[in-house]
Amino acid sequence: MNKKVEILPDLSALVARARDLILSKLATAIQERGQFTIALSGGSTPKPLYEAIASSNLPWDKIHVFWGDERYVPPDHPDSNELMARRAWLDRVAIPAANIHAIPTLSANPAVDAAKYEQHLQEFFHAAPGNFPPLDVVLLGMGDDAHTASLFPHTEALNVRDRLITVGNKDGNPRITFTYPFINAARSVIFLAAGANKRPALAQVFAPTADDFTYPSRLIKPQGELLWLLDEAAGLELKP
Ligand code: 6PG
Repeated sequence: MNKKVEILPDLSALVARARDLILSKLATAIQERGQFTIALSGGSTPKPLYEAIASSNLPWDKIHVFWGDERYVPPDHPDSNELMARRAWLDRVAIPAANIHAIPTLSANPAVDAAKYEQHLQEFFHAAPGNFPPLDVVLLGMGDDAHTASLFPHTEALNVRDRLITVGNKDGNPRITFTYPFINAARSVIFLAAGANKRPALAQVFAPTADDFTYPSRLIKPQGELLWLLDEAAGLELKP
């Protein structure tokens, strides 16, 4: 794993850096493999990034968008990660509907929807069961409790190592989430974290020893590169 931490002056610098990085990885992926695959995160931090990507002139038909996690609500619900990304990015550009790989949430059984999304991913990547195909970029946020995607502290989802997708648990409410081994198969994992409220969790995630089940973002150790993009407020105590 190649890990890098960058501390940007503020949220708008962080967004500009994330956009530039993603656009450069997109160009390389399309040149080398003919397409670019990215998994999006929810939360509030990436919204201006999605807006910035939407205003770029890109080969939309070669871009495939997935989600690293989803709240278990219909796609038109205000809490839906899909809805946020559609409004900020996907509805504003000419991306083919078939390139938008949203997480299903309508069967009334989260385990059934998790299995459906897993099957969809296996088919898309021509991956045999048990294989973890690499996305070009997995974008992640981190909560104040050090959760990432919907991998919450001390939940069952942290024990799932034999699947791509599982059911997460946020205070008793189901969510659908990538498993950490699937995230770790990515070519690049990019965390975006902004705000002073992230400092205590970041200190634990970056500590040489701490409990991975208490601070789940510690489980993210991709085969490719790991990039942490922080604003000053989040990264204050990590400055060299
Ligand atoms: C979600 C997320 C989640 C999020 C973090 C950070 O659906 O809630 O994917 O993991 O990224 O909670 O959220 P903020 O960007 O709002 O700090």
